[in-house]
Amino acid sequence: MTSYRITLLAGDGIGPEITAVARTLLEAVSARHGFSLQFDPQPVGGAAIDATGEPLPANTLAACRAADAVLLAAIGAPRFDALPREQRPESGLLALRSGLGLFANLRPVKIIPALAAASSLRPEVIEGVDLLVVRELIGGIYFGTPKGRIEMDGGVRAFNTMVYTDHEVDRIARVGFRLAAGRRGRLCSVDKANVLDVSQLWRDRVEAIHAEFPAVELSHMYVDNAAMQLVREPRQFDVLLTSNLFGDILSDEAAMLTGSIGMLPSASLGSEGPGLFEPVHGSAPDIAGQDLANPIAMVLSAAMLLRVGLQQEAAAATLETAVDRVLAAGYRTGDLLMGEGCTRVGCQAMGEQLLAA
Ligand code: NAI
Ligand code: MG
Repeated sequence: MTSYRITLLAGDGIGPEITAVARTLLEAVSARHGFSLQFDPQPVGGAAIDATGEPLPANTLAACRAADAVLLAAIGAPRFDALPREQRPESGLLALRSGLGLFANLRPVKIIPALAAASSLRPEVIEGVDLLVVRELIGGIYFGTPKGRIEMDGGVRAFNTMVYTDHEVDRIARVGFRLAAGRRGRLCSVDKANVLDVSQLWRDRVEAIHAEFPAVELSHMYVDNAAMQLVREPRQFDVLLTSNLFGDILSDEAAMLTGSIGMLPSASLGSEGPGLFEPVHGSAPDIAGQDLANPIAMVLSAAMLLRVGLQQEAAAATLETAVDRVLAAGYRTGDLLMGEGCTRVGCQAMGEQLLAA
């Protein structure tokens, strides 16, 4: 029987609660689909600082590197808020992403019919939305140098540098085209080529890589227009390909089309080694330990792990079908809008319903 090693990073806040649900479901779904999963729980974030003094202990990173895939819940605890940025739990997340070379961040945005009323947009605008944001994660203006703040001419000057190499654009473009080829075959590359030199290179390289994927239809859109089109007519998009900064902003905007942060999964991939799968939301300290968290974003992240990380498509679909069924049956955690005939449930009870489904 095929067996996979999964490093399990429960992290902080609601992390342990939603991780328990995801683990139970992964065990059930792997047994049904004829493969086995070995879970290796490791400390990260605030929990790791308490245990070892570091947000990303060397052992945790080594375990992640040796795994077939990594499932992370969330990192961040308010009791560390007074510390400098590099000593806080969240710095463990950045170290993990760069330590695993995860340059591609994937955020699917899909409207679940039973929850369409939760969106801030009208149901007829968002009905049927099914798009994927592919964001470059370890380059661009967030990492470019020089950066800093200096005093000059009696004033202050602060600066960052937006920089991409052809190699960095090519590898993220290939991820975008490959994923588009497996979906509806349309890639929209987002840039600001009318103003930025970096975007001009971005556009040139995306055009060049397009030759490797002739079956995919390529379009280009300026980022300001993309922000507008996402709320005007989001159904027009299949895959959106973006740089780090533009993708940070547009993926949050796209995510909110669904109306709930507790529903959204993500994947981060490198060119080799394991991918990292995690919900988009944080550690939700305001509801931690109260059995109030929505485990669905974590469960859908586990489904992405199965599909993208382990190529276990059927098992991924089983998890997603369970989510659809439980929502259609009216079960709602506290973050989800209640409708007629809906039943309020906690994290654990939601997990039990998902398992039954
Ligand atoms: P957050 O996403 O943790 O919470 C925002 C709001 O959404 C809160 O009211 C929370 O209760 C609610 N919420 C989030 N996830 C939920 C779920 N699964 N079910 C029900 N309600 C949910 O963002 P916030 O409050 O800005 O950050 C809290 C901590 O999480 C901070 O330390 C932050 O740095 C960290 N964080 C970590 C991320 C990660 O690990 N990838 C991402 C975002 C924030
Ligand atoms: Mg963001």
